[in-house]
Amino acid sequence: MTHPRVRKAVFPIAGLGTRFLPATKAMAKEMLTVLDRPLIQHAVDEAAAAGIEQFIFVTGRGKQAIDDHFDLAFELERTLEARGKTAELGRSRSMVPAPGNIMTVRQQQPQGLGHAVWCARHAVGNEPFVVFLPDDLVVSRTPCIGQLLELYRETGGNVVAVQEVPREHTNRYGVLAVGADDGRIAEVTGLVEKPDPRDAPSTLTIIGRYVLRPEIFPLLADQKPAVGNEIQLTDAMARMIGAMPFHGLRFEGRRFDCGTKLGFLQANLAYGIDDPDVGRELVAFARHELQRKD
Ligand code: UTP
Repeated sequence: MTHPRVRKAVFPIAGLGTRFLPATKAMAKEMLTVLDRPLIQHAVDEAAAAGIEQFIFVTGRGKQAIDDHFDLAFELERTLEARGKTAELGRSRSMVPAPGNIMTVRQQQPQGLGHAVWCARHAVGNEPFVVFLPDDLVVSRTPCIGQLLELYRETGGNVVAVQEVPREHTNRYGVLAVGADDGRIAEVTGLVEKPDPRDAPSTLTIIGRYVLRPEIFPLLADQKPAVGNEIQLTDAMARMIGAMPFHGLRFEGRRFDCGTKLGFLQANLAYGIDDPDVGRELVAFARHELQRKD
């Protein structure tokens, strides 16, 4: 059986980014850069590499820089052209999707991730779609979302990216109750948002990549606020279990939680070490700094 092709990605980026204050007071968290590009561009690049064609940003107040980032920058580009800076010009233009392929919808109040996804319902329409949380940066051979889409093409239904975490961290994530499990693909039989570690049904948790069926939208419409007084995506997904296939995929790759200071610094270090321009010097610097600390 063939399942409908996934063409659209939703990027819920209307959160307040409080863990990064004061950096996020006047600037969107998604514009923080890992190496040479903002988090939102890492996410859009990953989506594009996996064949996604349309990009839907769910934004809030103070996120205008994100729209500008994916636009042509006429004055900058004229100047680069006049100075013969071809490589820089290419880098500036490379992240501009084709006209009409970027859409922005507004979540006027940050009522939770589930509510943010629901705000994209008209832009998505009646077709399966993917959701990206740009905080979660995944370094992998095949784009993380591409791995999920590969599984979706076999199974249909919903597919989420999952990873094992220490039990004491389960209260930070959506946690799976697991049925059949071959060590890579886990059948989802239940979902709980941020459970107390003592009550967590497993230590397998969802990270910020999802393939979702559009049947989620009517469920989100009447979803009541729950943990943190927010409308939770996890709660609406839990109500889809049994009505369609639902799988968690232990993806190949390393995930960095760039919503935290530590994860953000780790991501910059990992990207920097692998960068041909700065990698060697960065390693030497890091060694020197470590000695200083000893
Ligand atoms: P987070 O839980 O990381 O919240 O949201 P946050 O506001 O971004 O950051 P902190 O916790 O205050 O530091 C997870 C994702 O859901 C989006 C966020 O933008 C982020 O991509 N989100 C969250 C919304 O779009 N709207 C919301 O109402 C809540």
